[in-house]
Amino acid sequence: MRIVLLGAPGSGKGTQAQRLQAKYGVPQVSSGDLLRDAVARGTALGLKAKAAMDSGQLVSDDIVLGLIRDRLGRPDAANGFILDGFPRNIDQAKALSKLLEDIGQPLEVVLLLDVRRQSLARRLTGRRSCPKCGAIYNIHSLPAGVMTCARDGTELYQRPDDKEEVIDKRLEVYERQTRPLVRHYTRLGLLRAVAGEGEQDEVFERMESAALTRPVSSAAVRVGR
Ligand code: AP5
Repeated sequence: MRIVLLGAPGSGKGTQAQRLQAKYGVPQVSSGDLLRDAVARGTALGLKAKAAMDSGQLVSDDIVLGLIRDRLGRPDAANGFILDGFPRNIDQAKALSKLLEDIGQPLEVVLLLDVRRQSLARRLTGRRSCPKCGAIYNIHSLPAGVMTCARDGTELYQRPDDKEEVIDKRLEVYERQTRPLVRHYTRLGLLRAVAGEGEQDEVFERMESAALTRPVSSAAVRVGR
């Protein structure tokens, strides 16, 4: 399984990547999580990334690409990966193709999670995350009064970039810089769009069928005839 999850902020990439990871044992490689980890550890790279993240802008390509290259070089990614939040623009997509070619792991599919803007804003303002294990929740679906992680009891937190004014900027950056990837991957024959509205289980099932259905190769069609 060598997948890119594409979609606007709040479309459910992280949520569904965690589910795919749990079911298929393939690691979620989230550029946002790698960056947040660098910020939390106060590394030089994290300090450079923080201002861009807090204002909803993209972090520079060289920083993100370095993190992704290191992460994909780890042993657990040798048999596949679920890329979540990377690539974010055409230059990153080209750099990714080159990197995957170098390590002999070409992309199999790009799944686009399609969600209405109105739902995105509601999801993002309501999101709460576990700082310890990374589990993702939402105040709209948590039982009333519960603000701790169901897995480890840690107090949940709100991401600093989930404030309304930053959300608007992130959605604008998505439209301008990331949306062009839809056309890019469509041209390469890799893109499948998945309706991202509805229950998380339903979305997961749609993603599984989209990811696991391979296009029939022209060679197979010829043999079949
Ligand atoms: P990143 O962490 O990648 O954030 P994002 O792409 O903006 O995506 P999100 O994590 O906000 O949303 P998601 O799609 O994962 O949704 P989730 O599953 O959490 O990036 C953050 C920042 O880092 C960027 O702004 C940038 O500065 C930097 N960065 C990261 N990658 C970069 C790159 N490649 N290049 C440059 N800079 C980069 O779900 C959201 C909420 O919805 C949750 O509460 C969840 O419970 C809920 N939810 C999920 N599914 C459903 C459903 N079906 N119905 C109802 N609610 C749902």
